[in-house]
Amino acid sequence: MNVARMLILGLGAIALTLSTAQAAGPHKTPVAPAKYLSMENPIDADDLEGRVLKKVKRLYKSKCKKCHGTEGDGKGSAAEDIVLKPTSFIVPGYMEDRKDGQLFWIIKAGSKDTEMKAFGPGTDVNLSDEEMWKLVAYMRKAFTK
Ligand code: HEC
Repeated sequence: MNVARMLILGLGAIALTLSTAQAAGPHKTPVAPAKYLSMENPIDADDLEGRVLKKVKRLYKSKCKKCHGTEGDGKGSAAEDIVLKPTSFIVPGYMEDRKDGQLFWIIKAGSKDTEMKAFGPGTDVNLSDEEMWKLVAYMRKAFTK
């Protein structure tokens, strides 16, 4: 094979790689169904204190921290090996821009084809609605920036 031919084949391969990467596009987190978006958290973040706060903090640590990090920055110990990175909750405005029902729904149902698994009733972790609302309230309290 001559040099020119090799060059053409090489460039072709690069172009193909670039176009497939682009076709996939940037990932968009799915948006919750309207029914969820209109839900309000029955638990007020300001009311999380004492024993209840300790308990939900422990739940976050045991089920969420390895990806989303203790500080909610998305840099947990497992994050390095994940291609689509865990969301950072502490990006300024992030928590304010997300409705309670959106956060609740992703925790409950997961995000398809990502490492964000479903945690709701009937799953391995089997969190109750109350536990998930508490997690949402905890995220508001701890991570709003
Ligand atoms: C194995 C890693 C992993 C674990 C454990 C994990 N997450 Fe996630 N999480 C992700 C990834 C990856 C995404 C990004 C999904 C996307 O953008 O589609 C995500 C996204 C989210 C979002 C973003 C929702 C939005 O609309 O922006 C919330 C809320 C969330 N996770 C909460 C939790 C909570 C609460 C726990 C613990 C009960 C948890 N996650 C555990 C990996 C994880």
